[in-house]
Amino acid sequence: MVSAAAAASSLRCFPPSLGNRGPGAATARGGLVRLSSRRARSTAGVAAPSREAESAASLGDLTRVDFPILDQEFDGSKLVYFDNGATSQKPSCVMKTLDEYYRFYNSNVHRGIHVLSAKATDAYESARTKVANFVNAANSREIVFTRNATEAINLVAYSWGMSNLKQGDEIVLTIAEHHSAIVPWQFVSQKTGATLKYVGLTKEGFPDIEQLKGLLSNKTKIVVVHHVSNVLGSMLPIEDIVTWSNRIGAKVLVDACQSVPHMPVDVQRLGADFLVASSHKMCGPTGVGFLHGKFDLLSSMEPFLGGGEMIADVFQDKSTYAEPPSRFEAGTPAIGEAIGLGTAIDYLSQIGMQKIHEYENELATYLYESLIAVPNVRIYGPAPCQTVHRAPLCSFNVENVHPTDIAEILDFQHGVAIRSGHHCAQILHRTLGINASARASLHFYNTKEEVDVFVDALKDTIDFLTSEH
Ligand SMILES: Cc1ncc(COP(=O)(O)O)c(C=O)c1O
Repeated sequence: MVSAAAAASSLRCFPPSLGNRGPGAATARGGLVRLSSRRARSTAGVAAPSREAESAASLGDLTRVDFPILDQEFDGSKLVYFDNGATSQKPSCVMKTLDEYYRFYNSNVHRGIHVLSAKATDAYESARTKVANFVNAANSREIVFTRNATEAINLVAYSWGMSNLKQGDEIVLTIAEHHSAIVPWQFVSQKTGATLKYVGLTKEGFPDIEQLKGLLSNKTKIVVVHHVSNVLGSMLPIEDIVTWSNRIGAKVLVDACQSVPHMPVDVQRLGADFLVASSHKMCGPTGVGFLHGKFDLLSSMEPFLGGGEMIADVFQDKSTYAEPPSRFEAGTPAIGEAIGLGTAIDYLSQIGMQKIHEYENELATYLYESLIAVPNVRIYGPAPCQTVHRAPLCSFNVENVHPTDIAEILDFQHGVAIRSGHHCAQILHRTLGINASARASLHFYNTKEEVDVFVDALKDTIDFLTSEH
């Protein structure tokens, strides 16, 4: 039998572009030679601690055993997975839930009267209740399952935006939004004549909240903002934004993709009209996400997609629609995946979101301080301090080195998985005067020891890319 590590290793491929960009890359093309793994070897000890050591063990040490994918080596380098901003890993309990669903009660929901369908429907609706409780929604009917956060934003843009926006209206966003929170509003603005108004960055390099406040007027109909930035790691004061927006009658949509998996999020406290997140970033399966909407608002909205499940009655020339959330869940949903998300939420809740948040704050500071100490590194976004929240992620560049070269060599040479590119935030990158950055993004199952491995590997990588060969 082929081991998981060997199988994964055999799947690894190296893009032909490798070697086209940074110094030293010519030697990398067509036969990258592995460097000394001195630094990588020095930190192999991230395995599960013994019982005696447990009291001193970090949350990362204690939980990583729940994530079998992390227990892999690539050519002697232990996998360090620092691409959690893109997607998180899944604990065994989530995989078990998916397996049990497909093995024992796979069936369509809300349709059959047989045992399997009843069981699937109960589990699916119970997952909705788990999501509602997790974000403290007033009612589980305020939770609409979607394919992901992107679809949830499109749902609001089409369903609410197309009926409520017209020429002269304004949509306020920040230049740091993810493309998923920009492009749907571009579609809607092109169709309705509403204008997009962008909030820029302060000289410290994070979204200018005073500018946002100043942009709000009686023309503003909706404010679309991230909670935590997937590039800058900074957090916006949503409660204030909601207060200012409510005063002028504007709605607020919060993209909570990078906050819901990492900290307690209370939709009633935030007070936004809409909030979206994706399961796959919160240790749940891909293919499912959710929209939280205030119930009265959801009830006033037209369907987004037409089909089964979302109707009350269908006639030859028209249909009437079900109440939310069914109104917005046309067709067969991602049943097993929604149930898997419910298990992920149970798992996160058992650990405690406050505990996760506190540990990740520690990781965030450790990551930032370790990385900023590397010569010629520039990190984007605020430095962590007691008053400024910084998520456990750093987007950065190294002078005269292309971030994709860094990411490829870290991966190939050291088993460290980070991301490079524009992270679906091209407008932000352009504003920062760059095309791309490298990004290391952590979750609670990561450790400071892994940060050490990453930083040592980065130093080796920079040496390699900037030395003569
Ligand atoms: C801040 C933010 N918003 C939206 C998205 C889109 O999420 P999804 O691709 O799951 O719809 C992401 C994913 O990277 C994100 O980080």
